[in-house]
Amino acid sequence: MSSFPAIVIRQDGDRTRASLEQLTAADLPAGEVLVEVEYSSLNFKDALAVTGKGKIMRSFPLAAGVDLAGTVLESNDPRFFAGDKVVANGGGLGSARWGGYSGQVRVPADSLLQLPSPLTTASAMSIGTAGFTALQCILALEDQGLATNAPARAYTSGDCLVPPAGSNRPAEVVVTGSTGGVGSFAVMLLAQRGCRVTAVSGSQEHEWLRELGAAEIITRDDLQELAGRPMASERWDAAVDVAGGTMLVGVLASLRKRGSAAACGLAAGSELNTTVFPFILRGISLLGIDSDHCPRSLRERIWTDLARTVPESQLADPTEEISLEEVPTACERLLEGGVRGRIRVRVKSQS
Ligand SMILES: NC(=O)c1ccc[n+]([C@@H]2O[C@H](COP(=O)([O-])OP(=O)(O)OC[C@H]3O[C@@H](n4cnc5c(N)ncnc54)[C@H](OP(=O)(O)O)[C@@H]3O)[C@@H](O)[C@H]2O)c1
Repeated sequence: MSSFPAIVIRQDGDRTRASLEQLTAADLPAGEVLVEVEYSSLNFKDALAVTGKGKIMRSFPLAAGVDLAGTVLESNDPRFFAGDKVVANGGGLGSARWGGYSGQVRVPADSLLQLPSPLTTASAMSIGTAGFTALQCILALEDQGLATNAPARAYTSGDCLVPPAGSNRPAEVVVTGSTGGVGSFAVMLLAQRGCRVTAVSGSQEHEWLRELGAAEIITRDDLQELAGRPMASERWDAAVDVAGGTMLVGVLASLRKRGSAAACGLAAGSELNTTVFPFILRGISLLGIDSDHCPRSLRERIWTDLARTVPESQLADPTEEISLEEVPTACERLLEGGVRGRIRVRVKSQS
């Protein structure tokens, strides 16, 4: 039985400890499909799990890594065969189940999807959970009526769209945490869909944000100032918010009538101190996004849409690739705010 490396999180008294261990398939928990992992990605949640700075793991020991792409080695499920290229994210991977920072993983078949063409295991994990979550936010906004150039979904009537059909201006969308994994992907995908994107950022990476498609860049302070009043002037049709806290309060105060915010993160804080005024006087909506428990049908829709819309050239550029050995240092860097865009983790050694 061949051995493989894995970043395993174990409980050590009141704390958790991450270490790179050499394992065999006999060490893995049961599951229907045995996958050889080629790539995973590094996310905020992974950084909290590996550094022990957040209570992410729900049992021990478990390998970290909330997503993976690889090749099926063995399958007890009729939907998968040895040699299939597959992708998985969420469904408790890397928090309630053995995660993707492991040379091999046993995965429940319901959590696994065939890798949609033309994605490779490498390009899928350049997208990773960050890109998946960004598109999940955008689809939720479109389903709520955001008018983009993507094919119309739930709404067919033009006056249900925001902005309404025939308004002669693109939808204006604000994205917080815009140089991070989810935020940078949201900026790129929204610009591709014809939206005018305002990127909120605490960094100086303005040139890169413009290359991604941002039309305007504002600072975190600019947005936080808007949180001082229950309602500020109407500025955006929609928002992708990874920050939470006062940043989200500022967003909610500035949405136009019938606008929506997709909230997926807490980079700025988990509290939300606001009023009902924007909800009852402007009819805005706050949409909660949870990629971990995303239903399988929506998961398929998101990966298919990502495979269709994200050009390989755009996947290559913002991605940094690291080995499993480099994960702990990269986790510290990510939590200190020293990471731009997305990090792909090479799990299968190239030799
Ligand atoms: N709900 C879900 O399913 C889901 C899935 C994935 C991620 N998330 C959550 O989404 C958030 C972002 O994840 P990520 O992977 O994109 O993380 P990331 O790569 O670390 O990006 C977070 C970005 O937020 C901004 N930021 C950091 N500290 C901030 C602060 N104090 N105030 C305001 N902005 C701040 C920074 O961008 P700028 O420097 O450009 O401002 C940073 O790059 C995290 O909270 C994560 O847990 C949720």
